[in-house]
Amino acid sequence: MATIGVLHPGAMGAAVGAALAQAGHEVLWVAAGRSAATASRARAAGLTDAGSLDALLRSSAVVLSICPPDAAASVAEAAAGFDGIYVDANAISPQRAAEIAHLVGPAYVDGGIVGPPPQRPGTTRLYLSGDPGPARAVAALFDGTALEARVLDGHGATAASALKMAYAAWTKGSAALLLAAERAAAALGVHDALHEEWARSQPELEARLAAAGASAAAKGWRWVGEMREIAATFEAAGQPGGFHRAAADVFAAFPRPAGDEPVPAS
Ligand SMILES: NC(=O)c1ccc[n+]([C@@H]2O[C@H](COP(=O)([O-])OP(=O)(O)OC[C@H]3O[C@@H](n4cnc5c(N)ncnc54)[C@H](OP(=O)(O)O)[C@@H]3O)[C@@H](O)[C@H]2O)c1
Repeated sequence: MATIGVLHPGAMGAAVGAALAQAGHEVLWVAAGRSAATASRARAAGLTDAGSLDALLRSSAVVLSICPPDAAASVAEAAAGFDGIYVDANAISPQRAAEIAHLVGPAYVDGGIVGPPPQRPGTTRLYLSGDPGPARAVAALFDGTALEARVLDGHGATAASALKMAYAAWTKGSAALLLAAERAAAALGVHDALHEEWARSQPELEARLAAAGASAAAKGWRWVGEMREIAATFEAAGQPGGFHRAAADVFAAFPRPAGDEPVPAS
């Protein structure tokens, strides 16, 4: 059993931490600077407050960075000097992952999570890439848990981030396009006619639109950074970045829901 640090227990980090804790690992987090919502998720997940980032880094064999994509680089900078395995599991471009790998050193493992916060087996995968030894050691931590860890052997050091970007390019990019199409139709006075036509020729779109609207209302503000990471990924891969810069604009129109703002933990 290992001691593992989670930076930080958001919706995904807390669920990943809970999976590790249920498997018998000691899972640490740091309350300092985090909100009451994060503190309550960490408690519910059975995680232990290390008291400080330094203490977490001294005690942990593995650190998992699971935070907003915009914060991935600063979380890695704050962990500089950590001598265990550092996993960045955020939705970031392969270029940003390479920058973080450079900062962290040889014990960097790249990660990308596909699926919802894992509660039961079969829903969620943690893809891993990089040096096969550390990547396999990280995957082994999740044996028997609700999170399926898969090492992408032989695909390059930042393959996990590349896969996450390509996957989310479609799921979230197409959600943004659907929302924008419906809003454009409403602005142009053809909202009802569009829905009637969809009912006849694209009947699956009503359910997709409802799901896209619900997800964007809850999490759209958080996806702005992820869409920009995908735009940068596309451009580096010779594809147009404009799709996902536009998707970032669509999601930026969804404010952070009331009550979801960070309140410092007391
Ligand atoms: N949720 C999902 O369904 C899902 C699915 C696949 C992948 N992921 C990936 O998982 C990562 C985290 O997503 P999430 O849904 O767990 O996000 P989240 O619920 O918003 O949690 C983010 C966590 O990071 C902390 N945080 C916020 N701003 C920070 C900053 N500037 N510096 C350091 N920490 C900060 C938050 O603490 P406070 O409470 O103090 O703000 C919170 O504990 C993302 O990279 C995302 O792409 C999530």
